Amino acid sequence: MLPADFRFGTATSAYQIEGAVTEDGRGRSVWDTFCAEPGRIADGSSGAVAADHYHRADEDLRLLKRLGAGGYRFSVAWPRVQPSGSGPVNHRGLDFYDRLVDDVLGAGVQPMVTLFHWDLPQALEDDGGWLNRATVERFAEYAAVVGERLADRVEHWIPIASPNVLTMRGYGNGSYAPGKALMFEALPVAHHLLVAHGRAAIALRAAGATSVGCANNHAPVWPASDDDADVGASKLFDALWNGMYLEPMLLGRYPMDLAPLLEYMVQDGDMATIRQPLDFYGVNYYSPLRVGAAPEDSESPFDLREVMGYPTTDLDWPVVPDALREWLIMFRARLRAAVPPIYITESGCAYRGEPDENGVVDDQAQIDYHAAHLTAVAEAVRRGVDVRGYYAWSLLDNFEWAAGLSARFGLVHVDYETQVRTPKRSFQWYADLAAAIRAGN
Ligand code: NOJ
Repeated sequence: MLPADFRFGTATSAYQIEGAVTEDGRGRSVWDTFCAEPGRIADGSSGAVAADHYHRADEDLRLLKRLGAGGYRFSVAWPRVQPSGSGPVNHRGLDFYDRLVDDVLGAGVQPMVTLFHWDLPQALEDDGGWLNRATVERFAEYAAVVGERLADRVEHWIPIASPNVLTMRGYGNGSYAPGKALMFEALPVAHHLLVAHGRAAIALRAAGATSVGCANNHAPVWPASDDDADVGASKLFDALWNGMYLEPMLLGRYPMDLAPLLEYMVQDGDMATIRQPLDFYGVNYYSPLRVGAAPEDSESPFDLREVMGYPTTDLDWPVVPDALREWLIMFRARLRAAVPPIYITESGCAYRGEPDENGVVDDQAQIDYHAAHLTAVAEAVRRGVDVRGYYAWSLLDNFEWAAGLSARFGLVHVDYETQVRTPKRSFQWYADLAAAIRAGN
């Protein structure tokens, strides 16, 4: 049973829902470039229109109000605010978010704002992107601009969404923008993202922000077998996926195993900058990972293997709510007092589903997913883990990065031909659940 003040919310990100990529002075982002390269996106789609939220924000806010969940997490598109990633502010871009914050509050919902959800201005990527330490300075400037405009009204701030996903997929294996496959040479990206997180937290607080946290993607990493080589590979992957972000943020140091790989790029004061006091710790959770030692002819030391024996979503991701409960319990057990209040800043699943002749999208599988994950959270809370809220990914069907528009994560179905929104059965279920918990039932 969750407490009556438990925060229910939904989450989105700018490039995944907004569209309008050339409007009102928005600059080009790395995702515009990446989507234009043949073969990058599974279904050949892009975020150029996506759910057209930039033009339909009013309608989407009415949905948000109808949902009645208390929180909404969205991201600000850096290339709307600073089209080339530095220098003068594009006021039309910033005005959009200023109005959005007012309208979210007007719908009776508290905004949780992500400053950067992977849509780096292309001009910065042309200068090396996150491999270039100068991007940290640009990000701190951008954070100050957005903070000064919005901090008086935004409840919670997240500087950077899932830095591990961006490092690994954007620069490690190249499956996300900017599409660089540098393997271990991508590690400076992680360090720069972490320093950027700290610098942005400082800038936001200076601008008046009262709650600054993070949103880190975490997954329990299971060894493929109890063979020493598989156990070793899974430990290394766990350090790279989980520890490399949470330990610097909460303890001010890199995991012991990785220190030799990272030390050469750490400058004086970096670890203290990264370890800013956090008002909350955001966990994005989807699935556990299974990792084994790679075959001898592989360039990589590890191999991702299938997690077997569980139901899967359309993206073949295993549905394992117990792994979320276990991860939360172990997180608290290991770090104790260093862990601030936790929010599940994302959890969700993609299932196909179109409206039937009565306009009903019967997405029982999505209802089951969220019900099971909320139960897992409630069990962790009962075991003493301080989890304050759960933000379902996502409010709307949207552009799921390399998987394109066909992976549908929304509580609301979007018809991409007509842009008609149809709340799925999960939407009403989530609304009813949030209302019942609030009423103490
Ligand atoms: C994590 C990301 O933050 C979000 O952008 C993405 O759509 C979901 N996971 C689902 O993959």
